[in-house]
Amino acid sequence: MTTIYDRGAPGRQAAALPSLARPEQEILAYIPAGLRRRERPRLPEVSQPELVRHYTHLSRLNYGVDTGFYPLGSCTMKHNPKLHEDLARLPAFAGLHPLLPEEEVQGALALLWELGEYLKGIAGMPGITLQPAAGAHGELTGMLLIKRYLEDRGELGTRTKILLPDSAHGTNPASAAMVGFQVVAVPSDGRGMVDMAALRTALGKDVAGIMLTVPNTLGIFEEDILEITRLAHEAGGLCYFDGANLNAYIGRARPGDMGADIFHFNLHKTFSTPHGGGGPGAGPVAVSEALVPYLPVPEIVREGDRFRLRWDKPKSIGRVHPYFGNFLVMVKALAYILTLGDEGFREVSAGAVLAANYLRVRLRGTYKVPYDRLCKHEFVLSGEGLPVRTLDIAKRLIDYGFHPPTIYFPLIVKEALMIEPTETEPKEVLDAFCEALVGIAGEARERPELLQRAPHNAPVRRLDEARAVREPVLRLLFDSPQA
Ligand SMILES: Cc1ncc(COP(=O)(O)O)c(C=O)c1O
Repeated sequence: MTTIYDRGAPGRQAAALPSLARPEQEILAYIPAGLRRRERPRLPEVSQPELVRHYTHLSRLNYGVDTGFYPLGSCTMKHNPKLHEDLARLPAFAGLHPLLPEEEVQGALALLWELGEYLKGIAGMPGITLQPAAGAHGELTGMLLIKRYLEDRGELGTRTKILLPDSAHGTNPASAAMVGFQVVAVPSDGRGMVDMAALRTALGKDVAGIMLTVPNTLGIFEEDILEITRLAHEAGGLCYFDGANLNAYIGRARPGDMGADIFHFNLHKTFSTPHGGGGPGAGPVAVSEALVPYLPVPEIVREGDRFRLRWDKPKSIGRVHPYFGNFLVMVKALAYILTLGDEGFREVSAGAVLAANYLRVRLRGTYKVPYDRLCKHEFVLSGEGLPVRTLDIAKRLIDYGFHPPTIYFPLIVKEALMIEPTETEPKEVLDAFCEALVGIAGEARERPELLQRAPHNAPVRRLDEARAVREPVLRLLFDSPQA
């Protein structure tokens, strides 16, 4: 891999800087001696065209939602209107300092308050915090709320278990365990839904709550959802709904009406901020009446046409994020809500569900579909039965110009390929993706080695992905052999 240091030559410059207005020594005198560099920094010495070509080349090696279809189930990247990026970049938003006094940020507080009101309406729940910075952070906040609620009722010592269907998202059990709850798995039945008999057995006086991914990671909506929440409440537990998959039913159903006590949004999935890539996200949490006193501080309250921060909430779990959370993600979310409205949201969920079912039905003659029933926004295929592994199928898709779907998740499907097409792809793209997967299944039978060595046309071949995570090399060491 060529770095910027491999380009250019000594003395080349990408910018013409003005000459110093004062003698160098005079300027240096302002910097304490201990803070001054002893050697010149080793900066790349390149001309402007070399610089631009280097980074343009790197950007072309990347695959993103702006280059092609990105059917990564669960962590979906979908089209996010560029207008919202422009709005978030407006200096009045991007340049706001989080320490400005309340009276100078009334507009920003109004924006946050309004977003919170919309989200409460979408969830059908009376309380909200916008602070959490991601879905998993929302889950952690939700678990802390359950803990504080139980503490307040003197039940923390006895209610120690969180029930988790084995079709839940992976972050759910991690969040419950981080707060100290014991995680108890509830198996799925042959329909890919919660096994109701197993649930009834698991529910008892030691249960703090149940965490449901809705729809679950098979893309299936729990048909017994009302019975599940009724039983959990009857047993004295609370119901947590993971709302990262809200794009499957937004505008059509509300978690509050289904019995949710806690619900997290992934604004960076449902509400216009690209998911993934480590960028900022937001995981607001909506709650039922009983949990409102425990929500994080500060709360944004409206008094007439003014907004203020309320800190005097003695039962609050405290802060879960500095300042107000990831504000610019919220700017984009509000823009999305105002642009689409109820009718637009109904179109989003209809489009997401239609696209997923179209692919499922087109592909079921070629790949196994272990839970082959009407799905919501995503579905899961299995590569089982082919003479290659699912990893090989995923790598071969890169040669066909597609980002691979999520693989080996959910864990309850062997050789899983979890596909989420989203609502924004035209039929020709969905068709081309199907044709690629059908072609790959044929290649797998006739020339399996072709898949096992794929990708053939990508900038890099098979990577040791585990090593890249465990031993990341993130900077250039000038004096090492790799320099
Ligand atoms: C169903 C579900 N729950 C939770 C999460 C966690 O969200 P985050 O990645 O923002 O922490 C995801 C992530 O994609 C998800 O798909």
